[in-house]
Amino acid sequence: MRAHNVLIVGGGSTWTPGLLKSICARKNSFPINRLVMLDINEERQKIIGEYAKVLFQEEYPELDFHYTTNKEEAFREDLDFVFVQMRTGGYTMREKDEKIPLQLGVIGQETCGPGGFAYGMRSIRDMVQLVEDVRAKTKDAWILNYTNPAAIVADAIGRIFPEDKRILNICDQPENLLRSYGRILDKDPREFDPVYFGLNHFGWFTNLYDENGNDLLPELREKILSGGFRPVDYEQRDQSWLDTYSMVEQIVQDFPDYLPNTYLQYYLYPDKVKQKLDPDFTRANEVMAGREKRVFEECERVAEMGTSQESKVVHNDAHGEFILVVAESIAYNKGSHFIVILKNEGLVENLPEDAMVEVTASLTANGPRPYSVGKIPTFYKGLIEGQFAYEKLTVEAYLEGSYDKALQALTLNRTVVSASKARDVLDALIEANRGYWPELRSERPAPALV
Ligand code: NAD
Ligand code: G6P
Ligand code: MN
Repeated sequence: MRAHNVLIVGGGSTWTPGLLKSICARKNSFPINRLVMLDINEERQKIIGEYAKVLFQEEYPELDFHYTTNKEEAFREDLDFVFVQMRTGGYTMREKDEKIPLQLGVIGQETCGPGGFAYGMRSIRDMVQLVEDVRAKTKDAWILNYTNPAAIVADAIGRIFPEDKRILNICDQPENLLRSYGRILDKDPREFDPVYFGLNHFGWFTNLYDENGNDLLPELREKILSGGFRPVDYEQRDQSWLDTYSMVEQIVQDFPDYLPNTYLQYYLYPDKVKQKLDPDFTRANEVMAGREKRVFEECERVAEMGTSQESKVVHNDAHGEFILVVAESIAYNKGSHFIVILKNEGLVENLPEDAMVEVTASLTANGPRPYSVGKIPTFYKGLIEGQFAYEKLTVEAYLEGSYDKALQALTLNRTVVSASKARDVLDALIEANRGYWPELRSERPAPALV
């Protein structure tokens, strides 16, 4: 079994310790030769890096491990996989993405609505740079990307590097949902064969087959309608995530055909969800006071003690395991099935060819072999087309530096709808994102002053 060389970009992420634990747990199925972590923030990288040294000393002593803020050390010819989880602007900017729209009466969320728009406009530039840095050294390395907003990042990267077949954008939420279904049905989620369609953070499960070919979705729907819905790891979740999962019951009551991705709550019930959000204390504040604080304190403690044996630093197993099993399937040509983000090209027959859709695919050494889902009903097609138009206009606004397309994008977004609100939010976000976004110019004449 050939061992691989792996680079983690965004090594100072709050999700990294969980990923490192998964790397240890899977060292026999995905052996790593050299592992490097890269971050632009030296302090964050050092804390997680020192934790990693202790962890690997105990659980993976043969691993050749380094952490750095120096690109020269990170990008090398012999890389096989690059795992990316960066956040341009950090939590400081996430907080603005969430608070600015909320102050103007619109949903404030990091990947949905204007918050996702702002984050997308920031992420594209760094992601393009990352792909260029990797490709300057090797054409062969697989780039597996978690960086959000994955829908917008995937669309932008797909357009800028159309010939690059070794970039795969992934999201752990379908995996979180499958694990949650497993807990409700008391079954091993790895046995599920799911059918799923949509865009990232905007999709639905249509079927959930078991090992005998029975569709478990009708039974699951009944269980959700009678008993509600909770995440698999609800004991460790913050209240805001429990609230999000609990909205699935309402979505299924109103639209019982399929089982929705939790992010659809923001688009289907923007007013109801907005009422539950506090403009003075958003998810970014909850994460900074909770996960971020816990992860960094715990990593420092482990480094001081020199042992990780009693450490409970991992907060979500699905995230770290998912990217590793995806890499394993590609590395060893296993052809396992995963829900991933790919160019449509007929997979959903009645959606635009160039949409980046999320569907089930078999992942092989020669890339993803996705499963087509045929035609989808009008309601879902309509919702997705609106959202895809928003995503496409967002990427075009970035590429062309177009204020007009940015305004069109936000007006199309179901969390906004009103063109005047779209303009107010856009203007405030432009102000807040100076230095991160390209300059946006309007081709239209300025409105006459009265
Ligand atoms: P975080 O801010 O804790 O971590 C991101 C790290 O990236 C920081 O340490 C930061 O310094 C670093 N960084 C920023 N720009 C960089 C660059 N250009 N090069 C290298 N490093 C850079 O954020 P987090 O909440 O831990 O999330 C990390 C990323 O993973 C985010 O993009 C988040 O949205 C994403 N994520 C995606 C999924 C998914 O389902 N796709 C799931 C979880 C997290
Ligand atoms: C899910 C989504 C990710 C997102 C994460 C945010 O896992 O799939 O795309 O980054 O939730 O979680 P947070 O706890 O940072 O709000
Ligand atoms: Mn996601």
